[in-house]
Amino acid sequence: MTRHLLDVTDFSVDEINAILDMADAPVESLGTPLAGKGASLIFEKPSNRTRHSMEMAVVQLGGHPIYTRGEEVGFDTREPVEDVARIMAGYHAVIAARVFEHSTVERMVAAMDADGTAVPIVNMLSDWSHPLQAFADALTMRQRLGPLVGRTVAYIGDYANVARSLAEISLLLGMNVRLACPTGFDADEVELERLAMIGHGDIIQTTRPHEAAEGAHAVHTDTWVSMGQEREKEARRRAFEGFAVDDSVMAGAASEAIFMHCLPAYREFEVTGDVIDGPQSAVFQQGHNRMHAARAALAFVLGDQTHGAVQ
Ligand code: CP
Ligand code: NVA
Repeated sequence: MTRHLLDVTDFSVDEINAILDMADAPVESLGTPLAGKGASLIFEKPSNRTRHSMEMAVVQLGGHPIYTRGEEVGFDTREPVEDVARIMAGYHAVIAARVFEHSTVERMVAAMDADGTAVPIVNMLSDWSHPLQAFADALTMRQRLGPLVGRTVAYIGDYANVARSLAEISLLLGMNVRLACPTGFDADEVELERLAMIGHGDIIQTTRPHEAAEGAHAVHTDTWVSMGQEREKEARRRAFEGFAVDDSVMAGAASEAIFMHCLPAYREFEVTGDVIDGPQSAVFQQGHNRMHAARAALAFVLGDQTHGAVQ
């Protein structure tokens, strides 16, 4: 069966732990499942970490990455998304895409699943989720904090793609999740109920950052203005006043707490310079872990497809 990676919830707890173990293992232990094969990486939005970490992960697995900008492919303008996927599947062993609309990667999966030559589809960030970021986040928390069951992660800021995938993986791994978001930029009741059904940890939401961070082992944030929302910048900055992660927020967290940010970060907006550049910050380890997590996730989905080629 072809495995796709659209969301963290595509994987069981055991599979997530296996991917995290593979991410921590030496590069050579994953073999070269992409030897002589290509990976199509299509970006509708800008990227630094995701592009480089995915390209290098493909190289480390023996493959050849090909980067294409969305406007060159022209999803649904030059040709339908499904046609792009079917053509790419004839050249590449995996197709990864960063897309405006999550339905784009879902349509790629549907086209693949209807086709005998299906290859894995990987979501490199959509408006809904950012699963590759979440694998790196979980890996970082595990490396810095040890076993994660019963630990608490606080997410402060915009409840969007990064927050959703972080909440999902944290709950699946048995962590408690606390969200602090301004009204209107928070998880709605349906979403909170969905999250509460995931894993064994508890989830709560508040509008008070200090309350969310109290005793937390990891404090995480993201930009207040996601890619594509640039026109909302001033309104969003007003709405998020008081939600910056600063020393006073970190002071209430556990003494060993780490600060996390998916990056790119906007210092003095969602986080102060003192925090992101301070001793509790794990952001560069987290950023570097994007490559290790991507390599492991790719090897895992490819291994499933190639009937255990990856040990
Ligand atoms: N965190 C992250 O996805 O960064 P890029 O947008 O630079 O890829
Ligand atoms: N929420 C941000 C994450 C960037 C990695 C965005 O979608 O732009």
